[in-house]
Amino acid sequence: MADTKKLFIKTYGCQMNVYDSERMVEAMGGNGYVTTDVIEDADMVLLNTCHIREKASEKLFSDLGRLRPLKAARPDLKIGVAGCVAQAEGDEIKRRMPLVDIVVGPQSYHRLPEMVRGVGKTTDTDFPTADKFDLLPSARATRGPAAFLTVQEGCDKFCAFCVVPYTRGAEVSRPVDRILTEARELTAKGVREITLLGQNVNAYHAPGYGLARLIRELVLMPDLARIRYTTSHPGDMEDDLIAAHGDEPKLMPYLHLPVQSGSDRILKAMNRKHTAAQYLALIERIRAARPDILLSSDFIAGFPGETDADHQATLDLIRAVGFGMAYSFRYSPRPGTPAAEKPTLPEDVSNARLYEIQALITAQQRAAQDAMVGREVTVLYEKPGRMPGQMVGKSGHLHAVHVDDSLGRVGELARVRISASSANSLAGVRISL
Ligand code: SAH
Ligand code: SF4
Ligand code: F3S
Repeated sequence: MADTKKLFIKTYGCQMNVYDSERMVEAMGGNGYVTTDVIEDADMVLLNTCHIREKASEKLFSDLGRLRPLKAARPDLKIGVAGCVAQAEGDEIKRRMPLVDIVVGPQSYHRLPEMVRGVGKTTDTDFPTADKFDLLPSARATRGPAAFLTVQEGCDKFCAFCVVPYTRGAEVSRPVDRILTEARELTAKGVREITLLGQNVNAYHAPGYGLARLIRELVLMPDLARIRYTTSHPGDMEDDLIAAHGDEPKLMPYLHLPVQSGSDRILKAMNRKHTAAQYLALIERIRAARPDILLSSDFIAGFPGETDADHQATLDLIRAVGFGMAYSFRYSPRPGTPAAEKPTLPEDVSNARLYEIQALITAQQRAAQDAMVGREVTVLYEKPGRMPGQMVGKSGHLHAVHVDDSLGRVGELARVRISASSANSLAGVRISL
């Protein structure tokens, strides 16, 4: 084995990129690389990128610009670009930024180690037919007690605004046995909570299996205490998955179910394939199965053609549901998507709508958090807090909780009484050992 080399990796974008970065680090371990947080020490810098909005893509080019002096001082420094911008822009990145040595898309990063060794091409944005995960070393728990596990990738939905079907390719589900093996490897290394990932995770399907049956299989693992999944499409919430929220205690009471808009006209223009009323009816069924479930969503403000009445319909939907968490974005036209052909709204209009959505959501989030004060919850400790005698972890509802507990250990599930709610987290005291 060659000398140990250092890899600096920066991850943008969604949880799937976080998972992919972990897998790339493991793969590069085979090339003798260990990670570093100090970019100046690195032999290789890898940027795992996101293409979802213009701002996310621009970040890559400004970060690459900042790497210029480092590369000039040390020409042997390797610079790689992975992820969704790599997929969307391929060789264009190298043309624009000649300091980039390697470009690798999200479906070909199992080939990264050989690319770094100088074998084969230096740009790889294929959609190979082989399961890249089979070709990667097994998942090691470099991840702490809560880990991600990708079960499904890609998207066939083609929402009019979205680049994901182009950057991640068609929907593919991983075989059940591989997922169970990976889950076993993770729990054997101390993982207590697994979040199943997919761009459309509830469209997961394998012979005889949907996502619900996969979850029902995972709950049988004694060391696995908690299961979550993200991101779901309202059109794929099968009955058994809704039922599982009611009858599988290990399935956490949190669901991220993006709706994007509350206007039927805009939902249609977005190609979301459901109405606002259908979404509300679905929420009602989910709450009937699990009344205390915390609901989360995504919203886009200022989609082409959105009128003030459409925007009001979005605010109405938010008021009708009462979200415990939600993300909202100003519409960003993305190259190659159908919506990008349409005229955009004036920026001040979409900004004003975005602020209104955000203000409403922030108030709802705060109310959901404040309602936890005085309640007993279970917290999975993920790390020690900044204050001595404190642990930090997540509740079942995915609230961050700072707990006074001088004996707490990372990976422990502790019963905690919530004592206070602040802007982005809860505080509590441990009530039992
Ligand atoms: N697969 C997931 C999410 C994909 S992207 C889903 O279907 O919900 C995450 C979020 O980014 C989306 O839910 C959407 O709200 C937002 N988004 C995607 N494309 C966007 C665009 N062009 N402009 C603004 N927001 C966008
Ligand atoms: Fe994008 Fe729509 Fe697919 Fe989600 S469902 S990834 S928003 S195309
Ligand atoms: Fe971004 Fe790609 Fe994820 S575009 S949101 S990193 S799937």
